Amino acid sequence: MRTRPLKVALLGCGVVGSEVTRIITTQSADLAARIGAPIELAGIAVRRANRVRAGVPAELLTTDATALVKRGDIDVVVEVIGGIEPVRTLITTAFEHGASVVSANKALLAADGASLHAKAVEHGVDLYYEAAVAGAIPLIRPLRESLAGDKVNRVLGIVNGTTNFILDKMDSTGAGYSEALDEATALGYAEADPTADVEGFDAAAKAAILAGIAFHTRVTIDDVHREGLTEVTAADIASARKMGCTVKLLAICERARDGRSVTARVHPAMIPLSHPLASVRGAYNAVFVEAEAAGQLMFYGPGAGGAPTASAVLGDLVAACRNKLAATTGAGESAYTQLPVSPMGDVVTRYHISLDVADKPGVLAQVATVFAEHDVSIDTVRQQGRNQGSGDDAAVEQGGGRREGGEASLVVVTHRAPDAALSATVSSLRKLDTVRGVASIMRVEGE
Ligand code: HSE
Repeated sequence: MRTRPLKVALLGCGVVGSEVTRIITTQSADLAARIGAPIELAGIAVRRANRVRAGVPAELLTTDATALVKRGDIDVVVEVIGGIEPVRTLITTAFEHGASVVSANKALLAADGASLHAKAVEHGVDLYYEAAVAGAIPLIRPLRESLAGDKVNRVLGIVNGTTNFILDKMDSTGAGYSEALDEATALGYAEADPTADVEGFDAAAKAAILAGIAFHTRVTIDDVHREGLTEVTAADIASARKMGCTVKLLAICERARDGRSVTARVHPAMIPLSHPLASVRGAYNAVFVEAEAAGQLMFYGPGAGGAPTASAVLGDLVAACRNKLAATTGAGESAYTQLPVSPMGDVVTRYHISLDVADKPGVLAQVATVFAEHDVSIDTVRQQGRNQGSGDDAAVEQGGGRREGGEASLVVVTHRAPDAALSATVSSLRKLDTVRGVASIMRVEGE
């Protein structure tokens, strides 16, 4: 084994960074044996150097991240700061000074992965980011390396633990969105400002990264259709249950059936209780991959947290160090297919639409006609009676003996149709006098 250590610089020492430090310092012998040389933590860049951090050697702390990455003797820079700038500049500077980079930064990779990969290639170093998607769960390496000989057609995942916790709480207790969010905040899953999670930005960044790797093309967060879960109601969850489904915030990356384009989207969706993703509870993540030769694969585990994320970072660090020792680099970006990303309107899926309608003769026929005009085929229709003005939505199946003349909830489930056709259908439905409102529209996936 080489005795001269490989030097590692750490940018950021929060929840993940301090776990990375702990593992590097407490498992140094094992890491050295696996790499073939010892690793030495050469410096840790932080915002405030005078803050006491348990288990973090104070003499390594510096507030000058730029000077650290410019030292010239750093073999690998580990970035766990997050955000776009100054991190993009720091990573680029690290490449220019010969360091490989291990990053957990989904926002940066989803915004600008292509140019960072190009910089890494230019300087003959690695850029690894297993920790950027779904914490501890190995996904990037399996997609990039283990499935490199296969053809991935679909990636369907729960990649945000906070929102899965909220939806699981709503599903298991009947709670509304706000109540479930409050509990997620109290338990430390949701941040004080939960926007990135609940509006789907976090999951959209992960979807962009996964789609790019799975389909060997370039996908940025701007290509990902995004809807958060703030509009999901307890009634939606109850409706899903009636169909034998549950509601999950899904990241869905698909190759078009003709193989000429891909789509990437994040939105709440109903999935059958029999689908493996339906049983993913609490803040766990899981990603379901469909590949031509491999068939269906499921990756499951903790998608966030200091130690799980540090596990993914350390895996990359070991790989980057091994490559440094061998004076080589590992698998980098593969974007040779150059498949375009189609807009959401081209996505073909099923829909569950809940309408508030006048309960009188001809309404069902009117509604059905609108669906037919837009070539959207109806699979099932269910009517739930409501006493006018009372808001009482105790379900009475059609023909349940109530008097007509009030209002009813009409639940329509469609066969597969393009999203653009469904949007046009809904616009037309809104114009009908007999349709008092469109209570909810949810896609149905995983069938
Ligand atoms: N906030 C994310 C989640 C973890 O709730 O899953 C980091 O990506």
